[in-house]
Amino acid sequence: MAKPPKVLILNGPNLNMLGVRETAIYGTDTLADIERTCTRRAKELSLAVDFRQSNLEGELVTWIQEARTGADGIVINPGAYGHTSIALLDALRMADKPVVELHLSNIHRREAFRHHTYTSQAATGVICGFGAHGYVLALEAMAELISEKDRA
Ligand code: DQA
Repeated sequence: MAKPPKVLILNGPNLNMLGVRETAIYGTDTLADIERTCTRRAKELSLAVDFRQSNLEGELVTWIQEARTGADGIVINPGAYGHTSIALLDALRMADKPVVELHLSNIHRREAFRHHTYTSQAATGVICGFGAHGYVLALEAMAELISEKDRA
């Protein structure tokens, strides 16, 4: 049987604190809860997931570089680095595969400094405001993007 396409799911700084961090904004699910949900939904979509988190910008850059050959698509919640990191933007631009950016919160309803993300300039699409369910939506979008690419 052919190997399922692999989706790298990257989580940026402070997302390891989900469940205790500003729960009115980010909800009570922990990152481990979200990982379990992603693994379950990915299986139903015939995708494999590699779920990671880092508080370090350079580590995220390295993982994106490795995904050039090691993954079929990237889902990224860049956290605050989305608003600041040209390095993440450059790495995502090189990835040459579908990229879905997601944010738990609706960044457009929040402080003005959260309205812009550099990373979205390299994203195929952006999902925000659906809480932890956004990860499921991102995987569903990714399944479609990967199958479109296979058909092309
Ligand atoms: C976030 C939104 C960012 O503005 C913030 O810095 C985060 C989380 C979200 O998932 O809503 O760390 O990416």
